[in-house]
Order: sequence, then C-alpha cells, then structure tokens
Amino acid sequence: MRAGSLWEYGWPMATSKQMQFLANEATALAAREGLSAIPRWLPAKLFYDEVGSALFEQITELPEYYLTRTERAIFESYAGEILQAAGPSLTLVELGAGTASKTCILIEELLQRQSRGLFYPIDVSPSALQAAVMQLGRQFPQLRVNPIIADYTGGVEALNRISGRKLVLYIGSSIGNFEPDESVRVLRRIRRTLRMGDALLLGADFAKSPKILLPAYDDPRGVTAAFNKNILARLNRELDADFDLDAFRHVALWNKRCSRMEMYLESECPQQAFVPALDMDVEFGAGERIHTENSYKYTMGMIETILRESGFKLEQSWRDRQKWFGVHLARV
Ligand code: TRP
Repeated sequence: MRAGSLWEYGWPMATSKQMQFLANEATALAAREGLSAIPRWLPAKLFYDEVGSALFEQITELPEYYLTRTERAIFESYAGEILQAAGPSLTLVELGAGTASKTCILIEELLQRQSRGLFYPIDVSPSALQAAVMQLGRQFPQLRVNPIIADYTGGVEALNRISGRKLVLYIGSSIGNFEPDESVRVLRRIRRTLRMGDALLLGADFAKSPKILLPAYDDPRGVTAAFNKNILARLNRELDADFDLDAFRHVALWNKRCSRMEMYLESECPQQAFVPALDMDVEFGAGERIHTENSYKYTMGMIETILRESGFKLEQSWRDRQKWFGVHLARV
C-alpha cells in the first residue's frame, strides 16, 4: 500500500478516534476492579480529567480549603531559605504539577539566584500542563519549561537523564492520597531516579481538629461535592455509563485512628447503574458508599518515617504559625 492511500481512507480521523478509544480503555481498566469490589471504590487518579482538574483548581480557592493558601504562605515567607538549603544551581522538577500556581514563588526566587532556570512539570493532565507552560512562559522569559505528560507514581524514567542538581517538588499534600506503604513505594521509585545530593521538597498537611478538616473537604458551596461526583460523571462521559449523579451524596469523614480524611459517594436510594464499556451492572443499596479517596494528615513522626523508609534524609522543615501545613526538605 502506498503511503498516500492511508490519507485517502481517512487515517488521521481513525487515529484520533483510536486515541480516544485508548484513553477510554484506560479509564475502563482503572474503574473495573473497584466497581466490582465490595466495599466499592474508585481510584483517585480518575478525578483529574479536564473537568476535574478545573474543579480542583476551584477547590484550592475556597476559603475552607486552607491547604493551598497555607502552603503558598509558607513559600512566600521561606522561599529564600528553602532554595538556600536545597543548594546551588538547581533544576526544578514538579510531580503532579497541575497548573503549577504555587511553584511560581519558588521559580521567582530561583531566578534571583541563577540567571537561567530549567523546570520539568510532570502531570497526567495535558490541559493543566499546557496552562502551566503558557503562564510560566509569559511570566519568566529566562525559564525553560519542559512538560512531561506522565503518571509519576511509577517513577519517571526521563528524570535519570537530567544532568545537574535536582530539586523535586512534591507539594500540595498529594502524598497524603496514598496509603502509607504505597507512599513509601512511590517515594522510593522517585528516589531511584535521583542522584546523591539531589533534594526532595515534600508538602504535607498536618493532623488537626476535625472542626477545620471537615469543612475543607465538604464546603457549603458544594464545589468539593461536584469534584467528587465528577468521577461518576467521567464514567458516564467516557464509558457511556448511566450513574444518576443526583442520587449520590458527597460524604467526608475524619478517621482519627488512621489519621486521614475519607471521601465517599453515598447512594441515597437502592439503585443500579450500567457501564457498557465494562458490560457491567453495578447495584447499590440505600446508604451504600463508593470510597473515592483518603487524604492522610501527618505528624512529624509520620513524615520522618515515610522519608526514612523511602531512603531520604529529612534535613529541614518549615511550617505556618498555626502548624496546619508543613514543607519538608529531604536529601538523597
Ligand atoms: N489532594 C487533595 C487533598 O487530599 C484532593 C482533594 C481535595 C479531594 N478535596 C477533595 C479528593 C475531595 C476527594 C474529595 O486535599
């Protein structure tokens, strides 16, 4: 067959359709195990499609969601100290960068210390990365931005090839969305892509009163509820499922014993949903829950443990005055 005939028969269209099919396949694969399990669960990474990433940005601006602004305030107060402690001539990497909105503070400080900078934002969301590249390009002409579309949880091969000293930002308390043993495995895989002297900056939320935690994960405006429900909306969009979003309720609970917030979608009545892409009927009793996410809240002891177990050495920590949030510098 001549190359030209591929075009004649509509190859470009088939490619984009195939790509959509592959993306939906990945969603189907991610949803299958949890939807067939009792109790039911869905993997949190399904939150972050284009709609979900935009909703999460909205969450970070809620007055109740103290995490983002508290971490930002720590960067605003201590960016100089943090970069000083990390060492000279740094290349920045950010895991789960999203739109990298807090990172600007560190980048600005970096570019006062070195004339040029290199930044590798890593994220599964191409739309969020694109927003980051546009914004940073406009704001920092001396910064080269090399976005990497990837799920960092398996370690990112490309980091091996970066020369020079790296500072890996893992901020926003995303680490808290893994089970403790899984968080150690993720950090260990990241550590394997680093060299002696490279550093990790870990942002983590501290354990605190449920009076502060609960509204942060269940705001009166319902943005968090919409974010949580987007996971079902996404299955409707991509897998042609028929989850009735109004028949599920967002539930956020503080589990003190495990030191974590737990997020669920609770079925308000007995109901059934069909997921064509999985050829699966999913039945729910009234009050039955789908577990969508945990968000661990740390003590200093927990931070020290996960860093030590993953092969990092904790060097210095910064926190806000209320001790709500912490930023921790660790070394390979
Ligand atoms: N990483 C965020 C956190 O743990 C995710 C998040 C915020 C979230 N609000 C949520 C997840 C509500 C599920 C439901 O803080």
